[in-house]
Amino acid sequence: MLRTLVCLIAVAASPVLAQDKTFTLQAPDTLVETGFLKHLLPRFSLKSNIRITVQPTPGDAALGSDGTPVFKQGDTVWHLAKTDGPFTDAFQEWLLSDVGQRTIEGFKKDGTALFSADVTRVVQTVTLDLSGDAALGEKISLSQCGRCHVVNDTNRMNAIGSSPSFGLMRNFDDWQERFETFFLLKPHPAFTQVTDVTDPFPEHLPSPIAPIEVTLEEIEAITAYVGSITPSDLGAPIQTQ
Ligand code: HEC
Repeated sequence: MLRTLVCLIAVAASPVLAQDKTFTLQAPDTLVETGFLKHLLPRFSLKSNIRITVQPTPGDAALGSDGTPVFKQGDTVWHLAKTDGPFTDAFQEWLLSDVGQRTIEGFKKDGTALFSADVTRVVQTVTLDLSGDAALGEKISLSQCGRCHVVNDTNRMNAIGSSPSFGLMRNFDDWQERFETFFLLKPHPAFTQVTDVTDPFPEHLPSPIAPIEVTLEEIEAITAYVGSITPSDLGAPIQTQ
């Protein structure tokens, strides 16, 4: 009897009690990989004592394309869909509050805010198609990117080995998205300016090297050029057919 009692007390005193203000949130990998939720959720938990467990499968709430618009990433608007409950309600309220919005916009990668809380305003769209001028794209790739990346055989000797070649990157499933947003991806933000899109370099952080300056049309041209090149052979198993 005493044994049972001790066990019961042990269970009651376990941290489970501290964790009962909790809910599960479904979020796709693309969002998780940005690191944004690691910035956002602990700040909410700190204020509310409500803990959120992120999972790839459906839960009490979900970030995706359904529900209430809560923040924006580029021109993608993320929505919160949720079951009713005090904890999921509190999360939504917080996301839409001043503090929540400041927290959303406080997430920066290389000094650039990747998420905006302004879900009503239509911001400039950076989505491009492959209608760019590939010949122009080749010229710009060689002049702007070719000092680091092997663009094609003509600059093979001038590029630096630590940068992946264009032919190699053409193998990525999402190569188009990566090229369209290269200026947001490391290491480029520190030295890249896109006309009318990026803010000037902060005064105390000037570009450490000769900067890249491109327009959206030029990024479109580069992307069209990359679309036209043959992906490098990665030594994948030979397909027998
Ligand atoms: C000063 C050197 C330098 C210049 C100039 C440069 N890059 Fe890069 N780039 C790199 C390095 C280094 C990486 C690899 C980063 C890594 O592995 O994390 C990279 C990676 C990339 C990636 C993949 C990024 C990712 O995270 O998936 C793309 C796309 C890219 N560069 C496009 C470009 C384009 C387009 C230009 C020209 C307009 C350019 N780069 C100019 C150094 C450079």
